[in-house]
Amino acid sequence: MMSCLIMLVLLFLLNLASSDINQGQFSFNGYLNIEGLADVDSSGLFKLTNSTTFTLGHIFYKNPIQFKNSTNGSVFSFSTTFIFAIASEYPNLSGHGLAFVISPNNRIPGGVSSQHLGLFNQSNNGDSSNHVVAVELDTFMNIEFEDIDHNHVGIDINSLISVVSAPAGYFTDEGKFINVSLKSGDPMQIWIEYNGVEMQLNVTLYPINLPRPKTPLLSLKKDLSPYMYDSMYVGFSSSTGHLISSHYILAWSFKMNGKADELDLSRLPKIPRHDNGGIKQLKKILAITLSFTGLTLVLVLVLGFVLISRKKRFMEILEDWEVQYGPHRFSYKDLFKATKGFKDKEILGRGGFGRVYKGVLPSSNIQIAVKRISHDSRQGMREFVAEIATIGRLRHPNLVRLLGYCRRKQELLLVYDYMPNGSLDKFLYHQPNSSLNWTQRFKIIKDVASALFYLHQQWVQVIIHRDIKPANVLIDSDMNPRLGDFGLAKLCDLGNDPQTSHVAGTLGYMAPELARAGKANTSTDIYAFGIFMLEVACGRKPIEPRAPPEETFLADWITDCWDKGDILATIDKRLEKRFVGQQAELVLKLGLLCSHPVAAARPSMSSVISYLDGIASLPDDLSSVIKAREFPTGSNEVDALNELTAERNTVASLTITEAFVSHGR
Ligand SMILES: *[C@@H]1O[C@H](CO)[C@@H](O)[C@H](O)[C@H]1NC(C)=O
Ligand SMILES: *[C@@H]1O[C@H](CO)[C@@H](O)[C@H](O)[C@H]1NC(C)=O
Ligand SMILES: *[C@@H]1O[C@H](CO)[C@@H](O)[C@H](O)[C@H]1NC(C)=O
Ligand SMILES: *[C@@H]1O[C@H](CO)[C@@H](O)[C@H](O)[C@H]1NC(C)=O
Ligand SMILES: *[C@@H]1O[C@H](CO)[C@@H](O)[C@H](O)[C@H]1NC(C)=O
Ligand SMILES: *[C@@H]1O[C@H](CO)[C@@H](O)[C@H](O)[C@H]1NC(C)=O
Ligand SMILES: *[C@@H]1O[C@H](CO)[C@@H](O)[C@H](O)[C@H]1NC(C)=O
Repeated sequence: MMSCLIMLVLLFLLNLASSDINQGQFSFNGYLNIEGLADVDSSGLFKLTNSTTFTLGHIFYKNPIQFKNSTNGSVFSFSTTFIFAIASEYPNLSGHGLAFVISPNNRIPGGVSSQHLGLFNQSNNGDSSNHVVAVELDTFMNIEFEDIDHNHVGIDINSLISVVSAPAGYFTDEGKFINVSLKSGDPMQIWIEYNGVEMQLNVTLYPINLPRPKTPLLSLKKDLSPYMYDSMYVGFSSSTGHLISSHYILAWSFKMNGKADELDLSRLPKIPRHDNGGIKQLKKILAITLSFTGLTLVLVLVLGFVLISRKKRFMEILEDWEVQYGPHRFSYKDLFKATKGFKDKEILGRGGFGRVYKGVLPSSNIQIAVKRISHDSRQGMREFVAEIATIGRLRHPNLVRLLGYCRRKQELLLVYDYMPNGSLDKFLYHQPNSSLNWTQRFKIIKDVASALFYLHQQWVQVIIHRDIKPANVLIDSDMNPRLGDFGLAKLCDLGNDPQTSHVAGTLGYMAPELARAGKANTSTDIYAFGIFMLEVACGRKPIEPRAPPEETFLADWITDCWDKGDILATIDKRLEKRFVGQQAELVLKLGLLCSHPVAAARPSMSSVISYLDGIASLPDDLSSVIKAREFPTGSNEVDALNELTAERNTVASLTITEAFVSHGR
């Protein structure tokens, strides 16, 4: 339990990444200053107030944060986001709300409860020596502070009379304003961002099940420099009065000079159920039931039976060593509910390793994709889970996030972000009319390259993807490509006995040496990426048996066309010649170089990036390097296949696995 707690705590800390905060060395509790009734529970939930009248709560990050370089300097840019919930006892009456505070101290000794939000008191409210900048989420209309209503967001400088305020809500992309109720008890996310150059502070609020609105709710053009000291503290303040509310912060991230890290919505702590209505009702029912003693006995027996069978149904495996991976584990029950009991209707795709289901997490309404893999070997399970934890820590805008896993009898469930637009191959092959234009294709190539560069060279350890192909590139709601399924082949190797190692990869994308020796490395990934580039540019599969014989193997065909001086003839016909010639030529030549049969000739991902960005130009002798690829029996593919077959006959256990089918259909 203890180690679980520390892990959660560390996770929370990871969200609190600031330039000067070195994570992981301190325990979470040591990081916060807690005052009043505030409390941080074992799941990482910040409770600022509970249902006690006239109280306040403060939670501050303990260490100071540098907001400017010198007394007369200007405040740097900063960005913070947090998820809060305000639960009231009565639906339209509530406590006073909460505020995000930037303050000279990590405690507020003079703050009082009620309308002062724990920030100021009667005598210092409005005092310019306060040096406090806050964003209030106010659920009470105080005439003396010129509040506009009982449900508003305001920017406060040294005073509870807001500089600007607006009714709580957000703007849709069409510019329509939608009201939200701050005290609904539903978790809501807020972004507070200051641009030090433009001297503009923006506040954006929205329910967590929606994407972030583009237009901020509040935007204040004001230089904050005169109001802040060089080093300040950040935290939250909240209060109750006669009327009470519980104020919670579920997740928080803060960053100076950059965008705050995204919060992981799949791992929010649960808000305690509201004590009043529900429990009282239950008590009443219980009291009535208990008076029928005989009936009670029957009830207890039935209940017991139901509970036991329920428990069995949701039984999962959790071993001691696994506790340290706590946050990455999902309960089977939640996943069962999320996928409506793994209904066939929820299936997004099927692959060699298992099925992928669509789901909606019950607690947060977040859409997920759940990959269900049957796993009969207990061997290597520990490495397996450690690997999942590693993959779960990878963060890149062009990677599909692995949110966590669950283990149960013979099954392993992997939980991913849901990608509504499915996979890239659908766009390349199954949508002839709305196919991708050149700009989109070039962006996809560059984005996937940057994801692969991250896996190979920017993460603390080298991660080999092992199966790059359009089916494993998913398209998110903003049409950004995201590489999925990385690291899985290794996972599946870990779980199996070494005699039957999987040669993961897909024919057509497999480097010759991978097919031969079964050993994946960054260079085999680059081969597959090279083929991927060619495929995206030409809009056809790397091996196309129905094409004329000279065009069957894409790479060979492109090389031939290059020889004939017309390499661009291979670009997808559906583009109707609407492409940037220079970029197209670069993609084709670089694709050929990456998919060179000789591993040593392939560039590294960092070089690929600099070629694509135009920082470096392709080597002058490129043509001779590429034309040095020799195909004695037509193609290296055929060779590879022959060798593979030969090898399979001797080592009967070698198997090719069709790689995972992605979340898309
Ligand atoms: C609120 O928290 C305080 C301090 O933790 C505790 O003494 C009090 O009983 C709590 N009140 C309720 C109603 O939970
Ligand atoms: C702040 O000062 C440090 C050290 O003097 C310097 O490296 C940094 O560039 C300065 N930052 C800004 C935004 O002026
Ligand atoms: C900052 O500005 C004040 C008032 O303009 C001036 O007196 C002081 O010397 C300045 N300090 C620095 C370090 O420039
Ligand atoms: C709360 O709101 C409902 C409907 O909006 C209203 O009927 C009710 O009277 C309100 N309760 C109080 C105590 O104001
Ligand atoms: C108000 O707060 C200030 C600053 O913390 C403190 O010095 C002062 O004593 C407080 N006044 C009252 C009346 O509580
Ligand atoms: C939103 O809230 C404001 C202030 O409470 C109110 O004036 C307005 O009518 C509301 N709009 C809608 C669409 O409910
Ligand atoms: C604030 O919002 C405005 C309007 O949407 C935008 O132009 C500006 O870049 C934003 N500034 C920050 C710091 O987010």
